[in-house]
Amino acid sequence: MLGEEFVVRKLAVGTHLGFIFFEFRVELAGTLLGVFAGDDANGLVFIGRKRGVEVDEGGGHFAPVAEFEGAFADAGAGDDTDGIGGAAVNLDEDDGAFAVWVEFAVRKRAHAGRADAEAVHREHRHAHTENLAGTEMAVRDLSFAQEFVELISGRGDGGCGAHAFDATPVSGPMLSEARRAMTALQWWQTGVIYQIYPRSFQDTDGDGIGDLRGITARLDYLAGLGVDAIWISPFYPSPMKDFGYDVADYTDVDPLFGTMEDFDALLAAAHARGLRVILDFVPNHSSDEHPWFVESRSSAVNVKRDWYLWRHALLSESDGTPERERLPNNWMSHFGGPAWEWDERTQEFYLHSFLKEQPDLNWRNPEVRAAMYGAMCFWLEKGVDGFRMDVLWLLIKDKEFRNNPPNPEYHGAMRDFASTLPVYNANRPETHDIVAEMRELMDSYGPTLPEHVEVKASEPTMQKLAARSHRVLIGEIYLPLAELVTYYGLVQKREAAEKTAPETPELNGANLPFNFHLILTEWKASAIAEIVRRYEQLLPPGGWPNYVLGNHDQRRLASRIGAKQARAAAMLLLTLRGTPTMYYGDELGMQDLPIAPEQVKDPAEKNEPGKGRGRDPERAPMLWVNAPNAGFTAPDATPWLPIEADWPVKNAAVQRSDPKSMLTLYRKLLALRRQHDTLHAGAIADVMAEGDVLRYRRVALPEGESTDFQVLLNLGTEVATAQCAPGTVVLTTLLDGAGARVEGEVTLESGEGLLIALD
Ligand code: GLC
Ligand code: MG
Repeated sequence: MLGEEFVVRKLAVGTHLGFIFFEFRVELAGTLLGVFAGDDANGLVFIGRKRGVEVDEGGGHFAPVAEFEGAFADAGAGDDTDGIGGAAVNLDEDDGAFAVWVEFAVRKRAHAGRADAEAVHREHRHAHTENLAGTEMAVRDLSFAQEFVELISGRGDGGCGAHAFDATPVSGPMLSEARRAMTALQWWQTGVIYQIYPRSFQDTDGDGIGDLRGITARLDYLAGLGVDAIWISPFYPSPMKDFGYDVADYTDVDPLFGTMEDFDALLAAAHARGLRVILDFVPNHSSDEHPWFVESRSSAVNVKRDWYLWRHALLSESDGTPERERLPNNWMSHFGGPAWEWDERTQEFYLHSFLKEQPDLNWRNPEVRAAMYGAMCFWLEKGVDGFRMDVLWLLIKDKEFRNNPPNPEYHGAMRDFASTLPVYNANRPETHDIVAEMRELMDSYGPTLPEHVEVKASEPTMQKLAARSHRVLIGEIYLPLAELVTYYGLVQKREAAEKTAPETPELNGANLPFNFHLILTEWKASAIAEIVRRYEQLLPPGGWPNYVLGNHDQRRLASRIGAKQARAAAMLLLTLRGTPTMYYGDELGMQDLPIAPEQVKDPAEKNEPGKGRGRDPERAPMLWVNAPNAGFTAPDATPWLPIEADWPVKNAAVQRSDPKSMLTLYRKLLALRRQHDTLHAGAIADVMAEGDVLRYRRVALPEGESTDFQVLLNLGTEVATAQCAPGTVVLTTLLDGAGARVEGEVTLESGEGLLIALD
C-alpha cells in the first residue's frame, strides 16, 4: 500500500521572520520525494516544495523563501466548525501522484468584544495549534509536531499538546482529488450559486412564511437540480420592516424562520450533500431596534453614539426654519425621501440610506468594524461557506458629509433617490480598505468540505486563479463595469502572499463583486456582447468573473424579457465564463406577481407608490407541487404573498416529468456545466453579435478535456441564422435536436439557443 511506505521527517522547526516555520522531507519507499516548508503567516499555513532535493538535514536550517518553488500548495489553517485547519502538499505527476495532508487542530478563537479590528487580525494571525497531526498518510515520524506546538505555546497562548494520528493509507480517488484541489479553481469559481429568499421558499409550520426547516426539506431538490451553493437572504432576528434586511441581532435566528438548531441542522444537511451555504450579511445598517442603536440614540454622549452617523442640524441665519427641517445635507434615501431622520430626544439627525428603521452604521469607527467582524467570525466558525455582503459599495460615506451634485436628468416621475448623483455617499475610496479587511478575515478560514474541484491547471493564468479563499466574499455592488471591477481589490501585499508565489497576483477585495449587467443591459445581442467583452477586458489579472440574472430586488427574468427569451438567458448564464448566480423560481420560469395596491408588502413600494419600486412581484412563493398553495405552505394557510396563478402547470413536480420544461432545461444546463471543464473553467472567445444572434466560444483548457463549445443565442424576436464551424449539437433551449450535426448556416427560432461541441 502506498501509504505504508511514506516517511515524513522533520528537518527543522523554528521561527523565521516572526512566523512559526517548519521544514520536513517526505520519502516514498526510501526515495526522497521532496522537501517542504510551511509557516503560519497570516493564520494561513502554506507549504511549498523546495527546489531540488539537496538540503541541509542538520536541522535549524531555514531556507530563504526563494529556494522554494513558486507553486506552493496552500490551505487555510483557519478554525472552521470542527476546529481543524489544514495544509496540503501535492506533488507533480512525474514525482508519482500523491498528496500529504497535515492537519492542525486549532483552538476555537474567541470572537466577542474585540477592542478593535486590529485585535481580530492579530488573533487570527496567532491562531494557535493544539495538535499537529498527519492524517491520510502513514506517518512514521511526526516528532516535529511536538516541537512545533511547543514553539507556538511558548508564544504565550499555551495549553497545547501533540499527537500523530493513526496512519490511514492514501487511496486512489482521494489522491487525485487532493492533487487537483491544490492547483485548481475553488468551488465558488466552478460552482453555481442559487439564491433563496427564505420567506418564500418553503413553509413548514403553516404560518404562510418560509422557514429554515423548509430549506432543509428542499435540499434534495437543490442537489438534484445541480447547483453548488445556496445563498440565503437574511434570517436574523428582525422587526421585518425590510423583511430581514433590518437586522436586530447579527448572530441569531429570527423565530419566524426557526432556531439556531434549525440553522445548524440546515448547514450540516447541506454540507452532507456537498452544497455550500452562503449567508446574507447586512453591514451597512442595522435595525433601529438593534441594541446598538437603542443605546446610540439614548443620549448624545452614549458610548455607542459614534456607532451610527449622527449630525447636527445645519446652522442657519435664524430664518425661522426649525432645526428638524435643516437637514445636514441633500443625501436621499433609496426608499424615498431624505436620508436623514430627526431624533427629538437628542436633537440630532441620523443617517439612513434605506428606511428610517435602518440606521446606517459608522464604518469609520473601529469598534463597529470589530463588532461586525466578530459577527462574521461567529458564522464562519460554524462553517458557513461565505457571505453575500449587502450594499457593499455604500459602506463608507464622505467624512465631510458634502452635498451630492444634483442629477441634471432628474424629473418628477423618477424616484426621489435619482434627484442627486450619489457622489459622496456611495463608492467612496475608503470602502476598499473595509473590503480588504473582510477578505483577510475570511481568508483566514479553511475549507468546510473536502475540496473537490475538477479542473487541472498548470497554465499560468489558471494558477493565478488558484485562489486561497475557501470562503467566498461576494459583494452586492450596483456600479458601472469599470468601477465594479475595482472591488476585486489590489494585489495583496501581505508577506505570505508574496512568499507563496510572487508572480501570481492575488487580489485583496471581494472574490465576486456581483455583476448585475445582464439584468441592467438592454436584451439585445449587440449590447450583451459588448458587456461581456468589456467585462472580460476590465477584469484585473486574478479576478474571476460572475453573472447574475435575477434577485429579490429585480423584476423576474421571465417577465423582464419574456418566457421565450428566458430560455436563451438560462443558456447564456450557464455557459458564460464565470460564476453564475440564479434566483429561486427562475428555473421554473416564474413570473412577476401582479400585486394590487392593498396587497403591497414591500416598503419600497409603500414609500414611493407607482414608481415601479415594488419588489413583491419577484418574491412570490416557490411553486413545488400540484396542490393548493403549490406545496409552499399548508393547503389551508394564507401565504404571505399570493401564489402565482400558473402554479398548476409551472410547479416543480409537473416540470420535473416534462422533458421539455424550463426546469429540465436548467437541469441539463447545470449538468453540462458541471461535466465539462471547458464550460466551468475554460476561456471565452469571439464574443459577438451576428444580427440578433449572440455568439461566443468556450475554449478548452490546455490540460482539461479538449472539447471547444460554440454557443449561439437568438435574442431577437424573429427567426435568425448564424454561421457555425462543424460540430455536434449538445443541447438546444427547445430541448430538441441534440446530437444533430451542424456546419455552416444554422437557423434559430426567436429565443432559441444552441450549445454545440465543436469537432
Ligand atoms: C440590498 C438588498 C435589498 C435591501 C437593501 C437594504 O439592496 O438586496 O433587498 O432592501 O439592500 O438592506
Ligand atoms: Mg413558516
